[in-house]
Amino acid sequence: MTTKLFRNASIFTPVDKGRPLAGKLQGEIVHIKNGAISCVNGVITDIGPEEGVIKQLPPGYVDTEVDCKGLCLIPGFVDSHTHICFAKRRELEFSMRMSGMDYLEILRRGGGILSSVKDARAASNDELFSETLKHVKSAVNFGTTTIEIKSGYGLETGAELKMLGVIGRINREMPIDVIPTFLGAHAVPPEFDGKPDDYIGYVIDEMIPKVAEQGIAKFCDVFCEEGVFTIEQSRRVLLAAKSEGLGLKIHADEVYNLGGAGLAAELGAASADHLLAASRANMQAMANRGVISALLPGTAYSLRKNYARARELIELNAPVAIATDSNPGSSYTESMPFIFGLAVVNMNMTAEEALVAATLNGAYAINKQKITGSLDVGKQADFLLLDGESPAILAYHAGVSPVLAVYKHGELVNSA
Ligand code: NIG
Ligand code: FE
Repeated sequence: MTTKLFRNASIFTPVDKGRPLAGKLQGEIVHIKNGAISCVNGVITDIGPEEGVIKQLPPGYVDTEVDCKGLCLIPGFVDSHTHICFAKRRELEFSMRMSGMDYLEILRRGGGILSSVKDARAASNDELFSETLKHVKSAVNFGTTTIEIKSGYGLETGAELKMLGVIGRINREMPIDVIPTFLGAHAVPPEFDGKPDDYIGYVIDEMIPKVAEQGIAKFCDVFCEEGVFTIEQSRRVLLAAKSEGLGLKIHADEVYNLGGAGLAAELGAASADHLLAASRANMQAMANRGVISALLPGTAYSLRKNYARARELIELNAPVAIATDSNPGSSYTESMPFIFGLAVVNMNMTAEEALVAATLNGAYAINKQKITGSLDVGKQADFLLLDGESPAILAYHAGVSPVLAVYKHGELVNSA
């Protein structure tokens, strides 16, 4: 048994009340000025003002004491939406987009997601693993202690299983928690060009049963978008996944308002993600059903689109999460501090709301709220020390990461 005491910290954390925080509660944060956290074997046993925490500890009980030097301490980031498992970057495509070429047009011409499919299929297991490891290590250094990673660059059974195998290996070899999501319905692969219904049939009959049998994914996601998959096709995939016990997620209304947010509400998905073009009625339906709105402002930034309407969602009482969407196309970043800055400056969220979105609500979006997302007794000691006085530093110090130390399970995991 190892007992650690982290003292002299200025702690900011949401409090888990058994449901995602929405509406006025979206920004509810507690601040413990001269705070301390004790943990045993990486699990929080006490948190509060330093004096009280120390009083509870029998003399000689603490193995390691860490002086946090008055720094700001917040929960580790939960990045609840990433495509961080990829083989190659797409820098040339970025320049094409910056010169005015449309993201979906590039996909229609066989580039975009489909060029990452070529690269992922061609990569060996070890190559894909070592590339993914680099990206995930970078995410950890930016403060991510729990991460969701999607497949979706395989688009054939073998290559999708290869991706999920790599994601599982990242989970075993990295000190953070990795949540795997199956995204077989990410695009129509060349073999099924012009036959999206046939591809959806293949995803349902071939892939989902194998993924479920091997137990290598927790969620199933689908790219419901104009020119990709329709509402009806998305519904078929998600219902098949649900019947196999997978949780549901949807890339909803990212570019066009197809009604993906409404489908998420109808099916009781864990989250609907993006929502840049979602209608108010569908956002209201999501709020009523308690579906998390996972907003990915890195995509609006990189695609030069209008940002999702975070204020409207909060006003509608929809719980909001924020995540990187880390991928080689529409949002190439591993940095939750960057996303936090975009959420505050460009989506008009308060720093407190963004903190809840990047931690506790993110944990709810991937069903990890029992172990992380807030600094409550019984959860893992996953937290960050920031070079600043409050979480606002994450937005204020633009383009720079104020994350000085990253603790997962009470252990320091970032590297210089
Ligand atoms: O969330 N929209 C679909 N999927 C990703 C992009 C993937 C890619 O461009 O490689 C997204 O934006
Ligand atoms: Fe995405």
